[in-house]
Amino acid sequence: MSSGDNWHPIGLSHSIEAGSSAGTRLFDQELVVWRDTSGIAHVWEDRCPHRGMKLSFGFVRGDHIACLYHGWQYDRGGYCQYIPAHPDLEVPKTFKVPVYLTQEQGGMIWTTLSGNPSPLPVDRDQTVPVHSLYLDGSAGAAIAGLGMMRLMPFASQDPAETIVRRLTETLYVVSTGDDRLLIGIQAISERRTALHLTICGSPELYEGVGQGHFLDWALQLRRAIERPRPVALTVRGAAAEMN
Ligand code: FES
Repeated sequence: MSSGDNWHPIGLSHSIEAGSSAGTRLFDQELVVWRDTSGIAHVWEDRCPHRGMKLSFGFVRGDHIACLYHGWQYDRGGYCQYIPAHPDLEVPKTFKVPVYLTQEQGGMIWTTLSGNPSPLPVDRDQTVPVHSLYLDGSAGAAIAGLGMMRLMPFASQDPAETIVRRLTETLYVVSTGDDRLLIGIQAISERRTALHLTICGSPELYEGVGQGHFLDWALQLRRAIERPRPVALTVRGAAAEMN
């Protein structure tokens, strides 16, 4: 998987509340995702331009985030607007955090490390969050594993085929019967991947037992993806030892 012009999911929308921040990684790059108090999500480089403190440790106040270390305050555009040690200073525009395009669709927060991504193909149906699963393995291994586990229907009890469909390099749909599960793939590093799962449907139908049903499936899927592969024996060497 390449960073390319893709949108990448970096978390479930409900996991970042208004007025909070969290750190994550995408292709080994450290990012802060934060939500201002009006509800808008932002994804930036997780590094204060002053002395390099992680901004994910900072405080969200209104429409800005303040660094934990010396309190520099950055507005939604990433520009430093206030330095507590120099309250009268007109802050130079060069004191700026790199910011990335951010969208929310399908119950996930998406970002792109390029400036010109293709549109996200998620429709705006209601979604219900399931979980963000972090697993040891590459994004390729996670994608290859999606078809490993049969997904039992929840909305109807009739047996149905499990169908895996690729919408983009980072977004898959696993469906069975009337149920549709969105799976966003976050390549944290070459060996670490996050799967962000949401159900397409109404909270009335899926909240509670339905979320648990799909979480069980996802946990089994993670076990299957992480299961160590059998090590091939060198038959010639083994035979020599027996003689
Ligand atoms: S390191 Fe962020 S304000 Fe000093």
